[in-house]
Amino acid sequence: MAETECPLCGGTGWKIVEREGLSAAERCSCQNRDRSAEMLERARIPVNYRDDRFENFSDRGSPELRMILTMLLRYCDEFPRVEPPGLLLIGEPGTGKTHLAVAVLKRLIESGFAGVFMDYQMLLERIRASYDPASGESPREAYETALESEVLLLDDLGAHRVTDWVEDTVTSIITHRCNERRPLIATTNLPDPDMGGKVIERLPEGAAARYDIRTTLLDRIGMRARSRLFEMCRVIRMPKVGDYRIAMRRQP
Ligand SMILES: Nc1ncnc2c1ncn2[C@@H]1O[C@H](COP(=O)(O)OP(=O)(O)OP(=O)(O)O)[C@@H](O)[C@H]1O
Ligand SMILES: [Mg+2]
Ligand SMILES: [Zn+2]
Repeated sequence: MAETECPLCGGTGWKIVEREGLSAAERCSCQNRDRSAEMLERARIPVNYRDDRFENFSDRGSPELRMILTMLLRYCDEFPRVEPPGLLLIGEPGTGKTHLAVAVLKRLIESGFAGVFMDYQMLLERIRASYDPASGESPREAYETALESEVLLLDDLGAHRVTDWVEDTVTSIITHRCNERRPLIATTNLPDPDMGGKVIERLPEGAAARYDIRTTLLDRIGMRARSRLFEMCRVIRMPKVGDYRIAMRRQP
């Protein structure tokens, strides 16, 4: 890439340093930068989210959002000495869960940790396809990445209809990561009653039924996966700041 541009090492990756009268070769600092760029590439963050950073996340005048930002920045600073090791961002659509999760992932990658972004639905599709030899998907690659990557961002957890197969697959990924203490950063817009999420929602005036029972995280991923998720993740409930996508459209 920009190899010939490095003025320190001339692109060799090594520079000569004088130490106690002796010359020695030392790894050039440009190698860290290249490595970080390469690791970011490997994280496979979708184009949509590629620019999501802490620096362009607004607190929208909300003290709660400000607190969450502070907490996440501290999480990144202290990583991997954080307890519990993972993060679970719960909240309504458009409140910035994925933006924040990507901001964390990127910062961890810049600090030298390896991480990968996976859309939950896509991950399940890829795992399913890997059982079919005609699909061209290399066997179990997605599944293994989900199990083994140092940090895993699992976006939109539970956004899929439930089958026993889905429940077993998610449980095995979460359990394996939990056992190995490999951090999981997950986002979901499913409510959870233990986290203050409303399971019974009042429908707007004029709607046919007055109440609607919402699907919960438990319904979608099952009891065992949910239990381990709560054990290995610090739960962050997004405040009721409204959908940012819609708020932006209202602006002139
Ligand atoms: N506080 C914020 N400051 C700046 N941009 C924001 C903020 N909150 C959301 N956005 C932007 O709004 C869009 C939607 O945010 P995001 O995708 O993070 O929402 P989400 O909570 O993950 O929603 P969903 O549940 O639908 O996945 C993104 O483009 C994101 O960058
Ligand atoms: Mg999202
Ligand atoms: Zn160099």
